Amino acid sequence: DTTYDMVVVSNRLPVDYVGGDGADTRWKVSPGGLVTALEPVMRANEGAWVGWAGVADREFDPFEHDGISIVPVPLSEDELEEYYEGFSNDTLWPLYHDVIAPPSFHREWWDAYVRVNRRFAETAARVAAPGAVVWVQDYQLQLVPRMLRESRPDLVIGFFNHIPFPAYGIYSQLPWRRQVIDGLLGADVIGFQRAADAGNFSRAVRRLFGYKTRGTVLEVPGADGEMRHVVARHFPISIDAAAFEELARTPEVQQRAREIRRSLGDPEVVMLGVDRLDYTKGIRHRMKAFGELLRDERLSVQQATLVQVASPSRERVETYRQLRDEIELMVGRLNGDHAALGHPAITYLHHGYPRQEMAALYLAADVMLVTALRDGMNLVAKEYVASRYDDDGVLLLSEFTGASDELRQAVLVNPHDIEGLKDAMVEAVNMPPRERARRMRALRRRVIENDVANWSATFLETLTGVGKIPGGVS
Ligand code: G6P
Repeated sequence: DTTYDMVVVSNRLPVDYVGGDGADTRWKVSPGGLVTALEPVMRANEGAWVGWAGVADREFDPFEHDGISIVPVPLSEDELEEYYEGFSNDTLWPLYHDVIAPPSFHREWWDAYVRVNRRFAETAARVAAPGAVVWVQDYQLQLVPRMLRESRPDLVIGFFNHIPFPAYGIYSQLPWRRQVIDGLLGADVIGFQRAADAGNFSRAVRRLFGYKTRGTVLEVPGADGEMRHVVARHFPISIDAAAFEELARTPEVQQRAREIRRSLGDPEVVMLGVDRLDYTKGIRHRMKAFGELLRDERLSVQQATLVQVASPSRERVETYRQLRDEIELMVGRLNGDHAALGHPAITYLHHGYPRQEMAALYLAADVMLVTALRDGMNLVAKEYVASRYDDDGVLLLSEFTGASDELRQAVLVNPHDIEGLKDAMVEAVNMPPRERARRMRALRRRVIENDVANWSATFLETLTGVGKIPGGVS
């Protein structure tokens, strides 16, 4: 077996299997912020990426994709239901997103989670060279750091949580709250999106284990009875900002942006939402606010139209099916009540799109609506800003996203407050050009400065530095 000095482990690989066999096997880029962020990192480091290919009951040999070494981990149909759809996306996901939807707790799901985490840990251990850096990603794999430390104490182990880490009052509902934290504490560095997430985690460690914490350093007992230092702090994730800007500057994308506006009936204002179809994203809240603005005649369809891209996600999980039905009912009502011929109120697109088309949509949009009820970071907000090399466009951004810690010059909103959201939408629509440019310039400085290369370099420097500093890092 080939081994690597750097191994990334995540539930989902950057590509999903879509069909075919042997030389005809077809793959497509997989959805979500995690893949968006890590792909450029992996292309720059010659590491291996261990993960699941997005289909049950299929085994694949390791292969190369776009300069990245891919090591697939198989999942059976039962594991897909219990580990992925069940424990990951119907227990942890809603729990970690402040119980926006009620989490389900099932012991069989937990057993499958342990089993599958072990398989990921074993695969990573097999392809990691002696002393390698192994970087484990996200809530689906929280037990992997401890499992790896036990089988391979030579490794340097990092973990990054892409989603929020909830307050103790919520986290403590988890029947396996001690096992999950113990799993994470196998890492040398545990990264979070926001300072508040890292604080919630450290508090849970103190409450459940009584370990000491000094700032971002936790003192944890090691295998030899000595104390180990584990760093838990925030590393806000980002995107390849330059790549987005470059794409947006191409004549093809600009041409396409003009076509998009024309196809929407050339309204004064195009508003845009881009999300995985997920109940954490606040899609209903933004549609409700927009619908009321049309009803109250504070906006008209000749003046403003909303384009909502909602990419399909976790479609076999019941909460997601229900959400889809609710949203599609709302879209139908909104258009039925308010659209005119050639002037849609809302254009709803239940697909994912390639980057090029996304860049054109961002350029075509005067107002970007990010109204998540809870979101680890929200990279769509950063993609919009990175694409607006023309210093135009207004970002309306929920306070409940990690991105709002950095993107202070956005129009910040509480999406639960529908009146406030309506006022913010009207403010965004009417914002004078100079004010738009001033804000966008400040937003762009921030996104360009903290891009994804900076994020991964900061994390990896912290990780490889930890062992060397006596008394840990502060
Ligand atoms: C979020 C999560 C990722 C996940 C992505 C897509 O960004 O943080 O871990 O991969 O959503 O969700 P999916 O369940 O399709 O992998």
